[in-house]
Amino acid sequence: MEAMGEKWGKVILWVVISTTIIAIAMVPTVTCAKQCSFPAIFNFGDSNSDTGAISAAFGQAPPPNGITFFHTPAGRFSDGRLIIDFIAKSLGLPYLSAYLDSVGSNFSNGANFATAGSTIRPQNTTKSQSGYSPISLDVQLVQYSDFKTRSIRVRKKGGVFKKLLPKEEYFSKALYTFDIGQNDLTAGYKLNMTTEQVKAYIPDVLGQFSNVIKSVYGKGGRSFWIHNTGPLGCLPYMLDRYPMSAAQIDKFGCAKPFNEVAQFFNHKLEEAVVELRKELIEATIVYVDVYTVKYTLISHAQKYGFEKGVIACCGDGGKYNFNNVARCGATKRVNGKNIVIAKSCEDPSVMIIWDGIHYTEAANKWIFLQIANGYFSDPPISLKLTCLANESIHHH
Ligand SMILES: *[C@@H]1O[C@H](CO)[C@@H](O)[C@H](O)[C@H]1NC(C)=O
Ligand SMILES: *[C@@H]1O[C@H](CO)[C@@H](O)[C@H](O)[C@H]1NC(C)=O
Ligand SMILES: *[C@@H]1O[C@H](CO)[C@@H](O)[C@H](O)[C@H]1NC(C)=O
Ligand SMILES: *[C@@H]1O[C@H](CO)[C@@H](O)[C@H](O)[C@H]1NC(C)=O
Repeated sequence: MEAMGEKWGKVILWVVISTTIIAIAMVPTVTCAKQCSFPAIFNFGDSNSDTGAISAAFGQAPPPNGITFFHTPAGRFSDGRLIIDFIAKSLGLPYLSAYLDSVGSNFSNGANFATAGSTIRPQNTTKSQSGYSPISLDVQLVQYSDFKTRSIRVRKKGGVFKKLLPKEEYFSKALYTFDIGQNDLTAGYKLNMTTEQVKAYIPDVLGQFSNVIKSVYGKGGRSFWIHNTGPLGCLPYMLDRYPMSAAQIDKFGCAKPFNEVAQFFNHKLEEAVVELRKELIEATIVYVDVYTVKYTLISHAQKYGFEKGVIACCGDGGKYNFNNVARCGATKRVNGKNIVIAKSCEDPSVMIIWDGIHYTEAANKWIFLQIANGYFSDPPISLKLTCLANESIHHH
């Protein structure tokens, strides 16, 4: 109930601030409209926003990924588009190419540095040992920095490069989006740490996260849109791997300890964002509570037009339709032919969880629609007004 009060407080505050912003926007209409049209997006993250990097570097996400929207695997772990795709579309920009994808990419309106399995902190295990991507957030920052320096230089050569690389001014005008942290939480559990031990390293994780934001600001980034981490305990891959006692499962089927650790991370992330705002005074830093939106959807699936909460659409059976050794798209050799054993459900549009780890296009779209208007953001500013939020913070 306290949360409800807080939510209404947020809504009222949003109305006040948005009214103020509309008032500001009404006066110099032309300049404000210009300020808020992001010409590019630079994204950092994990599989929640990877649009083709891990596929380009380590092998394509197999079919039936992509089945709903792209009708072919498209470097995304989903049947269709991700939240970052809906963000790009709503800003009138093309879907982001992965920086690591050398085939058919176009970086005119930004680049995506996210890779599936990325953590904020570099891991001390290889990808083949633990499954985590070697392209942790610090590496994504190096790639971004290199991309910026080289694309500015190469674009000056003209010709096709002018049609493939962003204008120099886009780097300061772009929207910088972040969705990372989930794998930092699971990494500790995979090393058999207790929840207390996982919590103990979260400050270090967020210290490294803040350093990356500061570096991007140092390179000219000004508008930041930061997703918090989702309800880890509602995902089949966690529920399957770590069996819980009945008391540890909430009434929607989610594992409470993992959701608590995700909320602890989010609380610390929000604190880190508050500190960053003090230091990076020209920046707009929006903290987006994706956790609440995802949890609301999973816990009230039917109310929002979905059939099931914590059950995966694509899988090979079992309690959660998730089998860690035969994940979505897994094949088996039968009579000399490869047949897919971990298949898509009949209608992914009525399912929330795609493959036990990631969300369906339908869920991603729903989540995007909730967060785009700012109701779940701090400050409560819509995506399209994000570039103006620093004004309202400083002057009102
Ligand atoms: C990796 O090992 C180094 C050196 O022992 C340590 O400082 C660092 O925290 C470790 N990283 C992780 C993610 O455990
Ligand atoms: C890349 O995308 C931009 C923006 O959509 C477009 O103007 C440009 O022509 C594209 N480049 C190529 C080589 O097709
Ligand atoms: C974690 O515990 C499991 C089960 O006892 C064991 O098989 C595994 O090797 C342990 N992993 C690590 C990294 O210690
Ligand atoms: C808000 O950000 C814009 C764009 O980076 C900057 O020009 C402006 O000075 C900032 N406003 C404040 C009050 O810091």
